[in-house]
Amino acid sequence: MLDDITRVIAQSEVREGVIWLLMNVPGLPPILQSVHIVAVAVLIGTVGLTHLRILRLAIWDQSPSTLMHRYQPWLGWTLGVAFLSGIAFVIARPARYFLNPVAGWKLGFFLVAIFLTVILFRRERKHPGAWRETLWATRGLSLISTLAWVGVIFAGRWIAYVDYLYWDE
Ligand code: HEM
Repeated sequence: MLDDITRVIAQSEVREGVIWLLMNVPGLPPILQSVHIVAVAVLIGTVGLTHLRILRLAIWDQSPSTLMHRYQPWLGWTLGVAFLSGIAFVIARPARYFLNPVAGWKLGFFLVAIFLTVILFRRERKHPGAWRETLWATRGLSLISTLAWVGVIFAGRWIAYVDYLYWDE
């Protein structure tokens, strides 16, 4: 199936347009990558820190309810910007990502991280203070989510170095 997706994207006209933009707009590839990294930094500085607060590792003077309420919009914004700044590269070189196991890890970690984060944030919005009522379950989910976000970051960076994991002369 991944072969089929790769082939469809590789033959699409959208890909030609994206490649043209990446090659002809001065500085576009590094600009997009920089935007990607800034979005990741903001995501971790908001949502990531909220998880650390739930785990009692940061921002002790603010309640997790306050942080979840305050940072929920940032979850959507940062993921939207990360998606838009990353998808151009995926469309331009589909085989580099769809046929790359590390990109698969990134997607797997991402699905776990976002699923748990959305569950925690939405539950808190519907039932303020729910985190305290189910403290240890909330901490458990936060811990798994935090590790998954770290996994997304590591896998994101390792995509470029997949050759060192699966050396093939
Ligand atoms: C939402 C959809 C996302 C897409 C489509 C996407 C796509 C990409 C792409 C194409 C690259 C370049 C990889 C390469 O060829 O070397 C990349 C790099 C990276 N991504 Fe993402 N990404 C997404 C979300 C995220 C998220 C949520 C995180 C972290 C929480 C993340 C962290 C990273 C990191 C750390 C890098 C390495 C950047 C560098 O060192 O220059 N990405 N991403």
